[in-house]
Formats: sequence, structure tokens, C-alpha cells
Amino acid sequence: MKRLIRLTINDRFFEVAVEPNQTLVDLLRYQLGMTGTKKGCELGDCGSCTVILDGKAVNSCLVLAMQADGRTIQTIEGLETENGLHPVQKAFVEKGAIQCGFCSSGMILSAKALLDENPNPDDLQIRSALSGNLCRCTGYQKIIEAVKSAAQSENTRCTCQRSTGSGENP
Ligand code: FES
Ligand code: FES
Repeated sequence: MKRLIRLTINDRFFEVAVEPNQTLVDLLRYQLGMTGTKKGCELGDCGSCTVILDGKAVNSCLVLAMQADGRTIQTIEGLETENGLHPVQKAFVEKGAIQCGFCSSGMILSAKALLDENPNPDDLQIRSALSGNLCRCTGYQKIIEAVKSAAQSENTRCTCQRSTGSGENP
């Protein structure tokens, strides 16, 4: 029997009826039309379904929609703002870290969750944060470079803000 859940996705409030066995990835893709979240293995192995749930990167194929009741989710659709692509998205494009793009949403969200928690990760920390995300195309090096570049651009931006004293997030 369906149950009503309430959740916030990309700063928008949703109230939706979900089946007990419905996964979060299926809710996002098929019920809410957010197809930026990809679905690969459905076993928690590939990371293509990664979203940020209450600040942590999770495989949305392993989360039941009901478990997201009352929680906050960020998907790839929520990263771009009126100012353009998120710095992590920009860095992936600029560093050639996207080829077929199937892994990119998950990679970018795992990278964002890492940088939110640790703005200056070293190579090992980046590799560890992305270890649950598989890519068939890039060989990973360009992805690691993109995450490092995004970290630098975010840090540069923070320094600018401090020096101008604007105190506002972009
Ligand atoms: S589809 Fe979720 S980890 Fe592969
Ligand atoms: S860019 Fe094709 S799977 Fe990663």
C-alpha cells in the first residue's frame, strides 16, 4: 500500500505517495522525472545513482523512497544556479573528465559531498571518496584532476570573499 512521504529535493518541497519497495532512484527518475540520476547496476556497485542525502553521498538504488521521508536530497539537477554551472561541474568539463557522461552525475555529487566536508583533499582522499563510483571511459586521472581543480577554485573564491569582506555565499 502506498504511503505519503514529504521530502526536500534541490530546495523544493515534495509530497509524494510511494510504494513500500520503491527505491529512491526510481522515485527520482520515474515519478519525479529527475533523470540526471542514472541507474546502472542497482546493486550499490557502480555509483551512477549517487545523490547527496542529508549531506552525505549515497547510492540511491540502496535507499528506499520511504527512508527519505523528512530528509533533504540534492541531485545533479540542483547544482547549477543562475550564476552557471557549479565549480565541480565546470572543472569536470574543463579537465575533460566527462566522456560518455553516464558516471558523471554520481562522480560530481560524490566530489561535491567530499569538498563540502573537506575543501582541501589530497589525492588519496579524493580517490577514496570516489572509490564507489565506476567509470568505463576516463581512466580516472582526469576526474581526480577535476576535483583538485574544483577545490582550488572554491578556495580561491573563499579567499576573495574574505578579502572583499562581502560575507555572502555566491
Ligand atoms: S545503480 Fe546504484 S550503485 Fe549502481
Ligand atoms: S565518462 Fe563514461 S562511464 Fe564515466
